[in-house]
Amino acid sequence: MKKVILDVDTGVDDALGILLAVRSGELDILGITTVNGNVSLDQATVNTCKILQLAGAEQIPVVRGADKPLLRTTYFEHRIHGKDGLGGALKDMPVNKQAEDGHAVDFIIEQVRRHPGEVTLVMTAPLTNLALAIMKEPALVQQVKEVVVMGGVVQSFGNVTPSAEYNIYVDPEAAKLVFKAGFASLTLVGLDVTRKALLTEEHIASLGDSALARYVKESTAEYMQRYYERNGVRACAMHDPLAVGVALNRGLVTTKSYYVDVETRSELCDGQTVCDFQNRLSQEANVQVCLDVNADEFLQLLTRALRD
Ligand code: BDR
Ligand code: CA
Repeated sequence: MKKVILDVDTGVDDALGILLAVRSGELDILGITTVNGNVSLDQATVNTCKILQLAGAEQIPVVRGADKPLLRTTYFEHRIHGKDGLGGALKDMPVNKQAEDGHAVDFIIEQVRRHPGEVTLVMTAPLTNLALAIMKEPALVQQVKEVVVMGGVVQSFGNVTPSAEYNIYVDPEAAKLVFKAGFASLTLVGLDVTRKALLTEEHIASLGDSALARYVKESTAEYMQRYYERNGVRACAMHDPLAVGVALNRGLVTTKSYYVDVETRSELCDGQTVCDFQNRLSQEANVQVCLDVNADEFLQLLTRALRD
């Protein structure tokens, strides 16, 4: 089984990504590291523990990471994910599972060192933890098998500013460092493809009436409402689950290698992922950019995993 570490800021879609990873039965999840992002580090950690309880997967270690971006202030997304990050869906669930001692940065370094060439990092949050890990242990870059990042957008518009996607916008210095680190395989699952991976009310209805199905319905209600207000369609984009989907089955997406950098010094464009489609900067490609997705196949994979 593919060994993975998930790095999350557990909001509504991170939670569905975790559930997909756990319930696929096809991944050896070494641990889940948490980071500030959609919600505070504390809230992201509690949410992750609750989701693992819901999935009956309490044995998976959860390790806390950075509580703020490298240089910038926090930028929560309560508007989209609700005050608690899970759309209020598990607000009454007692938290029995605790995070492990230690820091996410050390956890990532240690696990990759223990399994050289075998670990896939699935990053569905601002890239602060991985940037800190690279700074602390540069040799990590050569030991990681592959990195899959939900983040960025190269052919369309942003979802925080006109040009920036949330995970990159929140910690652009971290993203820049990760993109330029020299990983053998770094795949960018950006808004170009995640916006095509839409979970609809019909998908949710098809999940039945299990506790899990009820959770999915409740947690996505507000998230869908926001999407509806902006796009006039009752659906929500499965950003983070698609990154997990790509780790499970690369054939879901079409990718092309390009040089990608991140803007960090612009009033209007900070956090923009600039993709050098015509190689005007004469740099070596550093990122496999997802340009298309087989959305139906992915949504089948996701709904199958969420059905009892
Ligand atoms: C990303 O931003 C967050 O709000 C989501 O959890 C996802 O990781 C989408 O832009
Ligand atoms: Ca996320």
